[in-house]
Amino acid sequence: MYVCVCNGVTDNDIRREVDAGCTSVSELTMRTGAGASCGSCIQLADTLIGNMLAAKHELPVIRNRHVGSLPYNHQRTIG
Ligand code: FES
Repeated sequence: MYVCVCNGVTDNDIRREVDAGCTSVSELTMRTGAGASCGSCIQLADTLIGNMLAAKHELPVIRNRHVGSLPYNHQRTIG
């Protein structure tokens, strides 16, 4: 499924990036461009990354974290 329609990034693309070491939305944005346009996908992308990391490392999902190092108009509190 498409997570970032603006930049054509799918959940499979995100899984591939997480498997390659991506651990945050800002890193995903640098790698794929996801979230760099309208920003409406950022919260979903963050949730997917968190869930994929939790499954990969069997860690609890961290909620209410601030998405830093994104353009100001894309910064949001997740949770
Ligand atoms: S849907 Fe991802 S930047 Fe617009």
